Amino acid sequence: MDRRKEYIRKIPGKNDTVPEQVVARGEVLIAYSDCYDCHREEKKSKGPAFSDIAERYPIQPAYRDLLARKIISGGFGSWGNPVMSPHPEVSMEDAQTMVYYILSLKYRPLQ
Ligand code: HEC
Repeated sequence: MDRRKEYIRKIPGKNDTVPEQVVARGEVLIAYSDCYDCHREEKKSKGPAFSDIAERYPIQPAYRDLLARKIISGGFGSWGNPVMSPHPEVSMEDAQTMVYYILSLKYRPLQ
């Protein structure tokens, strides 16, 4: 397996469609939080690139909730060593909306 495949560890599965308003709201929520301190859209920073996260996870409720809980609780171990800080002030609903924005990047070739 090549290095990139090993890093992404793509999970096979169908993708649900996400309404455009949800994606747009997720983008705003992320912009107003501290996510971009550690993440960038297409490049690895302290945290994995959002486009790499989108490549790994199918858009399905189970993965949406897994990732939303990780945004709220923080954690490590999925992408290498650094730890993601917890965001207890973010509601489950807002975290799910942020996840939809991140995962929808799989449909948008980045310029
Ligand atoms: C202090 C730095 C930091 C901040 C701030 C941060 N992250 Fe992260 N994030 C990380 C790191 C590091 C990882 C990789 C953790 C791992 O390997 O499990 C990560 C992983 C993730 C993942 C993937 C989790 C997984 O298990 O695959 C998502 C989704 C995510 N971040 C979203 C966000 C969102 C949304 C915000 C803003 C609310 C945010 N992050 C803020 C550092 C950060």
